[in-house]
Amino acid sequence: MPKPQRLDQILFSQGFGTRRLCAGLIAHGEVKVGGEVVDEPWAEFDTAGLTFEVAGQVWPYVDKALVLLHKPAGYECSQKPKHHPSVMSLLPAPLRERGVQPIGRLDEDTTGLLLMTDDGTLIHQLTSPKHHVPKVYEARCKHPLTGAMVEQLLAGVELKEPESKTPGKFQRPPEVSKAEGAEIVDETLLRLTLIEGKYHQVKRMVAAVGNRVEALHRPQFGALTLPADLAPGQWRWVASPADVWGQ
Ligand code: URA
Repeated sequence: MPKPQRLDQILFSQGFGTRRLCAGLIAHGEVKVGGEVVDEPWAEFDTAGLTFEVAGQVWPYVDKALVLLHKPAGYECSQKPKHHPSVMSLLPAPLRERGVQPIGRLDEDTTGLLLMTDDGTLIHQLTSPKHHVPKVYEARCKHPLTGAMVEQLLAGVELKEPESKTPGKFQRPPEVSKAEGAEIVDETLLRLTLIEGKYHQVKRMVAAVGNRVEALHRPQFGALTLPADLAPGQWRWVASPADVWGQ
């Protein structure tokens, strides 16, 4: 049973700034617990199942944060984006402050389900192919899809190296990737299920079978599907990693 914690410590652990800032928020009457203002930073609460309000917004207490974002096009997953804003800018400050980061990456022009957490172990588990977490992609392709393309994707294709500024340098042995699932949804829409998460993997696999991805969307990560009512740019809490594993 966790020990009750001081309210300023609770806010600090949830990303609301330094202990001093958190104590200030509380003393200024910005924090409510159970619908009542608590203005004493030293007041103690049991964190199990605790929710609190800061400046009118409700927050659950969570040891580790796990959220899903409907990633829009035009955002980079990198912490230090080069050409577009970071997906981090779509999250509220407390989640950024506590070190939430993407679990794997989607390209700047890819849309769909992006999980984010501050749990390093979970990031490792969910991105490692050893744990066999399926990710489903829908790729709108330039040319009509054929049964032969699907067979090749399921059998395994040699990925082309991403274009290098210094051709001929840093040559590596060819990478081979195999789809766990591949189906033609309509003439040019391919649904692909992958276990790994290699750089530009879907685009490079589709290029390897002589087609080209024109738009890419990820509707599913593990057992989680993108909620139909979650608009691009919006995020939502995931109750537990078990929802991703499907247990
Ligand atoms: N494969 C890609 O090519 N791009 C993504 O964003 C994700 C998977």
